[in-house]
Order: sequence, then structure tokens, then C-alpha cells
Amino acid sequence: MNVLILGSGGRECAISSRLARSPEIDRLYALPGNGGIKEYATCLPGSVTDIACVRKAVEDHSIDYCVVTPDDPLAIGMVDALPIPCFGPTRAAARIESSKAFAKDLMKKYSIPTARYKVFTSYKEALEHVGKGTLPTVIKADGLALGKGVVIANTIAEAEQALKEMMLDKKFGQSGCRVVIEEFLEGPEVSVLAFTDGKTIKPMISSMDHKRAYDGDKGPNTGGMGCIAPNPCYTKEIEKETMDNIIIPTIRALEEEGCPFSGCLYFGLMITKSGVKVIEYNSRFGDPETQTVLPLLESDLFGIMKACTSGNLDKTEIRWKEGSSCSVVLASSGYPGSYEKGKEITIPKDLDAEVFIAGAEKKDGRLITSSGRVINVSATGSTLEQAVEKAYKAADRIIFEGKTMRTDIGKKALEA
Ligand code: AMP
Ligand code: GLY
Repeated sequence: MNVLILGSGGRECAISSRLARSPEIDRLYALPGNGGIKEYATCLPGSVTDIACVRKAVEDHSIDYCVVTPDDPLAIGMVDALPIPCFGPTRAAARIESSKAFAKDLMKKYSIPTARYKVFTSYKEALEHVGKGTLPTVIKADGLALGKGVVIANTIAEAEQALKEMMLDKKFGQSGCRVVIEEFLEGPEVSVLAFTDGKTIKPMISSMDHKRAYDGDKGPNTGGMGCIAPNPCYTKEIEKETMDNIIIPTIRALEEEGCPFSGCLYFGLMITKSGVKVIEYNSRFGDPETQTVLPLLESDLFGIMKACTSGNLDKTEIRWKEGSSCSVVLASSGYPGSYEKGKEITIPKDLDAEVFIAGAEKKDGRLITSSGRVINVSATGSTLEQAVEKAYKAADRIIFEGKTMRTDIGKKALEA
């Protein structure tokens, strides 16, 4: 079979590395891919949101199956638009991520635990609501905002500024015309990615992202600076509660609403004093969760993906390795603010870890930085301690000018 994967990040690099191992795939293509994905796939030029271009790639290269991983092509209906089977939800099902109001209303209707909330399209009413409520409060742009559409406001002035930027200044374009204002929750966070065919849902190993830029969870939010799996806060008891109250009800709710979800459904959870609650859904694999969790997958990823598409997940066994995994992000100095690109990267051949390229290009055989998050270094071990140590050992040996990383990935989990 000829398979195409859409995307160009560390997540797609990790997925490509596993697809490349599948005995069923004859040719693997990526659009647009990156300097690391090139090792596994033939990279095709184009944009993941250009439906005509992706359709042409499918035709030109006789693609039989397409893996759609980024949020934006899912939100515009790439899966609906392609004439071949795809891994990923339809546009209607992808609303669980592309519209926070849709997700919140779904949870309310089906009694899925989440923060109390209200949806606003009027700036004046939103501001009045904040004035009457408690602080901190959480303000979320309804639509996709490159992971930057959530503001935790500690003062009325901060809330006012966030609402103004989203609703009046249109900082996130149409995505901020509607906002969700919700209750501030507290507790450890857990990411659970799950394979689903719309009826059966099989969660992967839980994980813990580290979203803040600096050590000790300080600094601005980023796309994720590192991750560990499994998440020690996700105990057997919590897992059962989550399955019964959140994971199964969500998949049933989407089916009931006439938009069954197939692909990877991501549950962003918070373990609060009053139970596990949904912070967010994503309609796709998480980044960097994928680069952390896939190294623990023993079964053939492509076989699982096809089962999700064909509705046979109940008959598909998914095996995981024992042990833990840690992935550390190497970023360009200055990220998530402005940073320089074009730095040459040196990666030793004998690393005891996997390297997934997130933002680098291959030029004349050399690997050159091209983005804020450059590399994910992922290692597994029989204990979390071992996985963390191996990942950092390898991370230290990779060299490029301006390399920065958090030095405490996994620390909180080891203390838990
Ligand atoms: P999201 O983009 O929805 O994942 O939100 C980004 C981050 O904001 C989450 O990972 C949480 O740390 C935080 N967050 C979102 N919603 C809430 C909430 N209701 N209470 C507390 N923190 C939140
Ligand atoms: N790691 C968070 C996300 O993928 O949205």
C-alpha cells in the first residue's frame, strides 16, 4: 500500500518512524514532512490545509491511505474531502477540538465532568460575566489558536485584556469571535490519547506534558517542552473513573450526535479534589505526547490505524511494553518568543535514545534548524528514572547553536 502522512512536526516524525516499520506499507509519503521525516518517507511539497494540493498528491502517487494528524486540516474537513480511507475524524467530529463551545455543550448534554462555563459572542456580556464571577478565571477562544487561545486571568484587568484581544482585536481571527469563560480548576494534569473507530475506544498509555517554557513550570506556555509516560497520577482507580465517566461517554455522545469519531482522540484531564474533569479534547495525537508514548507501543501502528478506519478496533489487539518513556524537547534559544533559525545540528550516531526531528531541514546532507522546537529526544527504560536519565544523556550530546531545554522533565512525576 502507498500511504501519505500530512504534517511536519516531531509528532509526524515519530508516527512516520513507526509506519516505516509496517510490513504492509510499500511506499510512505509525507506532505510536507521535514528533515527527519525524510529518513522514513518521500517528502512532497505543499500545505496541509490545501485540499486541492493534497488531492493531487493522492492521485499522482496512487495513495491508498492517508494519515491526517494536524488539527487544521482536520478542522477544514480534509478527511471528508479525500477519496480514500483516512486515519482521522471527519470535519463534524473534529469540532470536539475546533470548537470549544461545541465540546463544552457536548459535555454538558451528556453529563461528562468538566469546568463550569458560559459561552459568549458579545464582548460586553463577557466582561460583565467576569465582573460578577470569581478569580482566577479561564478565558478560551472558541476556535483553533495554535495552542495559545487559553488565558488564565488572575485579575479583572487581565481578563479584560484577554477578552479585548480575542473578541475586539481579533488576535486569533475568527477563532476568538466566540469565547468560553470557565471555572478555574486545580490538580495534576494527565494526557490520555486513545485509538477509536467510533464505537470501540482503546486508550494508549497515559502521559504528562510539560507546557511551560522554563524549569519549575515557569514562564510562558509553549507547544510542550517534554513529556513522560506513564503518568504516575493516573492510578488504576483514576483510570477506571475516567473510562466510566469520560472516555466511554464521550465516544457514545459523538455517536449519538451523528458524528462518530474515528482516529486518535486526546483527553486533556485534570484530577481535581471533586474527581477527574476534562480540560480539553484534541481531535488528534498530542505533541509531544506521541513522541513519548509511541516508543512504548509494541504492536504495528499501521494495523491499529486501519482498524480504526474500518471499524474493527474491537478485534485488534494492542500491546504495550513494560516500563517508562521520557521525551525532552530541544528548542531554539528564545522560543516561544523570537529565535534564530538556520543553525547546523550535530547528532552523534551512537545515542542510546531515539531522535525525532520537529523543526529542521536537510540541506546538502546537513541538518539545519528551521523552527522553535527543533528535536525530541525520546528514551525508554524499565523505570521512569532510567528513561529520564537516558533521554538527558542523549540530549546533552546533540549540538546546535542556541540549543535550550528544560532540565526537569519528569521531576514532578518522580516526586509524585
Ligand atoms: P488547553 O489549550 O485547553 O489545553 O489549555 C492550556 C492549559 O491551560 C491547560 O493545559 C491547563 O494547564 C490550563 N487550563 C485550561 N483550562 C483550565 C481550567 N479550567 N482550569 C485551570 N487550568 C486550565
Ligand atoms: N500536548 C498538547 C497538545 O498536543 O495539544
